[in-house]
Amino acid sequence: PDVFTRMEEHEQVVFCNDPATGLRAIIAIHDTTLGPALGGCRMHPYETTEAALEDVLRLSRGMTQKCAAADVDFGGGKAVIIGDPQKDKSPAMFRAFGRFVASLQGRFYTGTDMGTTMEDFSHALKETECIVGVPEAYGGSGDSSIPTTAGVLNSLRAVNESLFGTTALGGRTYAVQGLGKVGGKVAAHLLDDGADVYAADLSDDALEAMSRYAEGTPGTFHRVDGDAIFAVEADVLVPCAMGGVLNDTTIPQLKVRAVVGAANNQLASREHGSWLQERGILYAPDYIVNGGGLIQVADELYGGSRERVLKKTNAIFTSIAEVISQSRLDQITTVEAADRMCEQRLQERARGNNFF
Ligand code: NAI
Repeated sequence: PDVFTRMEEHEQVVFCNDPATGLRAIIAIHDTTLGPALGGCRMHPYETTEAALEDVLRLSRGMTQKCAAADVDFGGGKAVIIGDPQKDKSPAMFRAFGRFVASLQGRFYTGTDMGTTMEDFSHALKETECIVGVPEAYGGSGDSSIPTTAGVLNSLRAVNESLFGTTALGGRTYAVQGLGKVGGKVAAHLLDDGADVYAADLSDDALEAMSRYAEGTPGTFHRVDGDAIFAVEADVLVPCAMGGVLNDTTIPQLKVRAVVGAANNQLASREHGSWLQERGILYAPDYIVNGGGLIQVADELYGGSRERVLKKTNAIFTSIAEVISQSRLDQITTVEAADRMCEQRLQERARGNNFF
């Protein structure tokens, strides 16, 4: 569909221009069935306004699904600022952006994304309270990689149960791409549980640190060079670096039974999801697996409790299990099953709203 059709699928699209500070931004509110729209604010030197619009519409729509999958009381939204994050930023620009967010009167909550930092949002915070994911020093819930890791581990448990008949993580082999904030914690946990972990990272220090950590655990650790991670023979591939990693080049190389990881947009396209299925590789949809961070920021609305957040991330186990069983039952891909589950949740809530 063209960009106007996709705009009409949104509840509200706001163009924000503030010549005094050079701010040019677009806020897209896709769907507020579940609650106010929530989505990060990306800053990027888009070549055209249309390219920025395309991006914000695609991302805000994705947020509606992500929120439904995580079962939080938010809808889908997103913002983009057109400009170069290296040279076009100023505190005044983010204050101006904050005023536009404030003008939406609680219909839109935002936070950092590619190209924006908490330092930027400390200025926006002076104009609006609708900012989430702020560091603990600013009264927020802090590092989201902890609940994100919990969600990945719960997804791995659900996948292991369906493939091997046990939720245990130990005694299996994993190929982890990226030992950063999420991948590092996931790998450490797997090693603690006595798993065999193969890992690749661009950073030698990260690999070195994990190798040392492994010495004190019942697990075993193996370093892998770069993209060789995709050819490792293992039970599960765990992508925790960048997106687009399940593509024409990597899928034929895979020697795993499943793919379960935190990275966003792992599939190069939806067709790659079908291809994985044809190869007998179980793919756990990334936006369900990595919903822990979203669960945490959404919880800020209720004051933010680490305990409650970790409890909610346990529900990711059930969502992944449901997606797997639906995909088997109806002979559809896990991606299709996940989309359908989200759509059903939205419809149920929409009916619920009408009832009251
Ligand atoms: P991070 O930046 O802390 O870690 C990424 C790690 O991947 C780094 O150690 C980096 O050296 C490594 N890396 C990058 N390219 C690589 C490559 N080609 N091969 C091997 N290693 C490579 O990021 P974080 O927070 O751990 O996030 C990981 C992924 O999960 C990202 O895709 C992120 O968008 C996604 N995600 C993270 C959430 C969070 O709460 N931190 C929430 C939802 C998704």
